[in-house]
Amino acid sequence: MPVSEKPGPEPFGVYVHWPFCAAKCPYCDFNSHVRHQPVNQQVFADALCTEITTTARRVPGRRVESVFFGGGTPSLMEPDTVARILECIADNWAMPDDVEVTLEANPTSVEATRFRGYAKAGVNRLSLGVQALEDSALQALGRLHNVDQALGALAIANENFTRVSIDLIYARPGQTLSQWEDELARALALGVGHISPYQLTIEAGTPFADLEARGKLRQLPSDLAFDMFAATNRLCASAGLPAYEVSNHARPGEESRHNLIYWRYGEYAGIGPGAHGRLISEDHRWSTATEFHPETWRQKVEDQGSGLVTDDRLSPAEASKEYLLMALRLSEGLNLARYAWIAGAPLEKSRYLPLIDDGFLTLDKAGYLSATDKGRPVLNSVIAAIAGL
Ligand SMILES: C[S@@+](CC[C@H](N)C(=O)[O-])C[C@H]1O[C@@H](n2cnc3c(N)ncnc32)[C@H](O)[C@@H]1O
Ligand code: SF4
Repeated sequence: MPVSEKPGPEPFGVYVHWPFCAAKCPYCDFNSHVRHQPVNQQVFADALCTEITTTARRVPGRRVESVFFGGGTPSLMEPDTVARILECIADNWAMPDDVEVTLEANPTSVEATRFRGYAKAGVNRLSLGVQALEDSALQALGRLHNVDQALGALAIANENFTRVSIDLIYARPGQTLSQWEDELARALALGVGHISPYQLTIEAGTPFADLEARGKLRQLPSDLAFDMFAATNRLCASAGLPAYEVSNHARPGEESRHNLIYWRYGEYAGIGPGAHGRLISEDHRWSTATEFHPETWRQKVEDQGSGLVTDDRLSPAEASKEYLLMALRLSEGLNLARYAWIAGAPLEKSRYLPLIDDGFLTLDKAGYLSATDKGRPVLNSVIAAIAGL
């Protein structure tokens, strides 16, 4: 996907949020809700379609490069629900044959039975939340699956999708460096083309944060977590899946096109409860967000055609800052020409030349500014320095 450097069609993606989960994991602060009555999927599919149609009236004529069903747990959706939403997207925007359609799935046996149906509905990429390859770790994370089920789900995923990604969580309490290296090596031996190892974050307001506050859960020391991050980069690269973003590694050509739309600061519609979007209309970028509570969102959609609660016009300065924050996470880095187009003015050299001189950033001949091996471990500080935060 070429990076657009000049005004013209931006890569466009559609994010669809399914906000329900079978149980709430104690570390998770995503917009996910447990319902003890069955969710009426038809009613939610209707609302999702209404919001898609409303959004398409605002940004018509787009060619969809990617659709991403995220959650929550989209693998709780019936394949018919997924098919209906994809049809609705295709009714409202152009959907080329090579569109990437990803669905996030939890690897329980029940969910794996739906994978074939998803493939028939048009999903062609599965992102599987394996999280760990140790049963004791899965239990500690509050997961509903064990390692055997995850491996079984992965086998079914490989039968049904040409592109499969797995998520893992490392730097878990009590984990050692060699345990993580061993676990990651086993994960890489599974042969997937894309892997997202995330360092455990203790999010405020979660049961894990509460346990930590009461001294019952201890985060790993930051230097050990850093060694694990470095080992992750080394092992993934030597398995042929170099990092293309801080926590995302892919065989060349297997990168998530959807995530690249975010990081290259393209255009995306956020559909469903608590979804965020960046739309381009009236020559401006707009930051959108919808009501997070599922039933309140659904009522809003019924009343006003969408669940929008935030719809802010971004100034060129705000938009270019967002581009900078996203793009420097990518291995390819920030395209200075694209930055200048979004900002309406070039990035001042005084903001990045000192960081090049100190070895944290490098500028290539194509005009991409990216973090070096020295800059990557301290990326947040590098980004803060260049963004003037
Ligand atoms: C939307 S979430 C979950 C998707 C799916 N429901 C699942 O649990 O597999 C996407 C990914 O974020 C990661 N994640 C969620 N909370 C995290 C946390 N507190 N620390 C690190 N990674 C986290 C997990 O790896 C998860 O697969
Ligand atoms: S980690 Fe996934 S399954 Fe667990 S609560 Fe969050 S979204 Fe739901």
